[in-house]
Amino acid sequence: MTPRPGRADGCPAAAGQVPGPQAGDAPYARLDTEEFTATPHAVFEALRAEAAAVPVVVRGGIHAWLITRYDEARAVLADDRMAKDVRHWRDFHAGLVPFTGDVAVAARRNILSSDPPDHTRLREVLLSAFSPRRIELLRAQIARIAGDLLDRIAPRGRADLVAEFALPIPMTVICELFGVPADDRPGIRTWTEALFHGAAMERMAQASNEIDALLARVVEIRRADPGDDFTSALIVACDAGRISSEELASLLRAMLAGGNETTANLIGNAISALLQHPEALKLAVGEPRRWPQVIDEVLRWDAPIQNSLWRFATEDVEIGGRLIRRGDAVIVALSCANRDERAFAHAAAFDIARADRGHVSFGRGRHYCVGATLARLEAQIALPALFERLPDLRPAPGAALRYRQSTMSRGLISLPVQFAATPGRPAATCAS
Ligand code: HEM
Repeated sequence: MTPRPGRADGCPAAAGQVPGPQAGDAPYARLDTEEFTATPHAVFEALRAEAAAVPVVVRGGIHAWLITRYDEARAVLADDRMAKDVRHWRDFHAGLVPFTGDVAVAARRNILSSDPPDHTRLREVLLSAFSPRRIELLRAQIARIAGDLLDRIAPRGRADLVAEFALPIPMTVICELFGVPADDRPGIRTWTEALFHGAAMERMAQASNEIDALLARVVEIRRADPGDDFTSALIVACDAGRISSEELASLLRAMLAGGNETTANLIGNAISALLQHPEALKLAVGEPRRWPQVIDEVLRWDAPIQNSLWRFATEDVEIGGRLIRRGDAVIVALSCANRDERAFAHAAAFDIARADRGHVSFGRGRHYCVGATLARLEAQIALPALFERLPDLRPAPGAALRYRQSTMSRGLISLPVQFAATPGRPAATCAS
């Protein structure tokens, strides 16, 4: 059997000193290591071979069950016995959980951390404000944003495509969606990065307060001067008594949290995957109708969110022969399930023509990602624009791929590239 990565036999929970998952028959695997950041797919492969539910330690020394296989992952994502509300989390109440970024998201009331009936109500309001029509209206703006960024990059012959392309696209799109005035956009970007890119605790708290203040200002501005934007639509729902003003703020926050790094990771991971697979890139560029397939294969092969957010068992549940006790924390390893050979033939291969589809990168069930259509749209516009504009794009010599250290997110820190410099179009204006 493949050796278990990063055994943590000495951790307090394994010794039975804390009430986290009672592993009993299995030592914990560590996902808070350099090894996991550098080679998550290898770590996942070993864990998936071992069991469908594996006890793990994640960042902050938190203990949880990791669901590794495809069928079980789909089942857990749609299981009503798996709640999102932290009041079901035994370790949290026992004071055994440090306040890391994703715990902060889970602990603060929002759509991602709520269960019915609140979740149902919040989701209905969100979806009515974030309608297919409003998403479709963003199409032209996404093309303009990507074009403006390429105008800045093209004359230089080299660029970091994470900082200069993948990150600014979703950030600018969200600002346009929310109706954030141009002057406030740099602030939103700075603080969002501090919040989601592992800043120190103090800076994270400061970032969180600053984001709240910025979003409150956006609400104020849109209330005084309503427009055809998402924030104005939420204000209408708030004034009609469907959501409180705290819930309005929490929906904006959730969309900001959900809509930035995720999509930047998708664009970055896609560029990286295509540079590693030039034959797939050639097919996509030659036949643009293939882009949606390419993007879905990137989502499966290198999922931008590799592990779901927390769930908590509301009763004892058996998964793959392991007993998950009431109050235990559960994480679904989306990226691991996506490479389960039981569901995908040659699962480790990047194959844009594969017939077996149905990755779980956007989750499943009642918390299925509300931004999936927008994320796909952004990638479907940005990627062809990039590769058509810079046809000889290649990795900068000696540039190693380094990923952000995170249990949840899978995204590159930077992506240095080279290409033949071409003139930018005149009058480039990008508000990001
Ligand atoms: C490639 C890009 C994206 C990926 C991989 C992704 C992934 C996910 C996943 C896995 C979930 C479910 C989490 C769970 O059940 O624990 C989720 C939920 C969510 N996503 Fe996304 N997301 C992406 C883009 C977006 C965008 C662009 C937005 C907003 C503009 C967004 C907003 C949300 C929100 C608000 C939820 C919570 C839904 C609920 O709890 O009902 N996401 N996303």
